[in-house]
Amino acid sequence: MQARNVFSLIDLKTVSLTEVQDLFSLAETFKKQPIQQKYQGRVAALLFFEASTRTRMSFEMAAVQLGMHPMILSGSQATSLEKGESYLDTVLNVQAMRPSVLVIRSGSQLDMMEFAQMARVPVINAGWGVQGHPTQALLDAATLQAKFQSLRSIKLLIVGDVKHSRVARSHVELGRVLGYEVGFCGPESFLPKKDSADFAGVRFFDDLNAGLRWCDGVMALRVQLERHEKKNMEPIGTSEFSAIEYAQNFGLSSQKIDAYPNVQFVMHPGPINRGVEMDEDIISAPKSLIMEQVAQGVYVRQALLSRSQNDLPKKEK
Ligand code: CP
Repeated sequence: MQARNVFSLIDLKTVSLTEVQDLFSLAETFKKQPIQQKYQGRVAALLFFEASTRTRMSFEMAAVQLGMHPMILSGSQATSLEKGESYLDTVLNVQAMRPSVLVIRSGSQLDMMEFAQMARVPVINAGWGVQGHPTQALLDAATLQAKFQSLRSIKLLIVGDVKHSRVARSHVELGRVLGYEVGFCGPESFLPKKDSADFAGVRFFDDLNAGLRWCDGVMALRVQLERHEKKNMEPIGTSEFSAIEYAQNFGLSSQKIDAYPNVQFVMHPGPINRGVEMDEDIISAPKSLIMEQVAQGVYVRQALLSRSQNDLPKKEK
């Protein structure tokens, strides 16, 4: 959260522990009483240039529960992007309509950080290319805090297509704030470079059993075929072999999880490729927090929208 004239949340690199704890406390108040029509008459512009179910609908729900009107752009179809208008011009034009907050999901076509630095209204990153998905990391952490009270020293193993995961990046940033450890696990081609400064302190595992032995809980990631430059797996469903091989080596199942009693929870940010990164049986197993993550997403996003409307005191760096 950058301390500027207007609130923005683009990454979690500069957020403080107090800011996150304040946010979680506010989210808890919304969990107890979701309908708080505090911002009637204000408009939340939700610009989703990339596909989304959970993030878009939970921001929409959060806005409605706060009394805000959600104004939604979903995909490029029937917008002037189809006529060649740039992403930057699109967000600048929507900003000119003076919504009370801009929530944006985009690929790398938009430099969200650069835009936020010149924006005149609060900007919230709802998933930006492979750079980050801070609201997802925050709702995951809030889900874990509800379970463990404190995240300090919790070991979170993130399994799968880490190289293309904005969620994994945001967890590395948030882990440094909240004190939880992050490990990455996957086939070599799915892991980022170990020596990258971005991932200092992260444990790397190329063997799922070693990772499961190390962690307190595990988060599976979706294989993001659309972000692979050279697709090293055929699209799921057309290449049985690759999907089956991935599932055998890195897919989560109740059998694999139950072999390690230290693994206390299983998460997935969604959407799930069932039978690839997770078997049916583990998705709804008692250790699964997947639906709790989704539920928590609404309250954390209510807290963020609320924060964007200056509900919490501004903090100086
Ligand atoms: N976790 C997540 O971002 O899901 P959506 O793509 O459905 O929003």
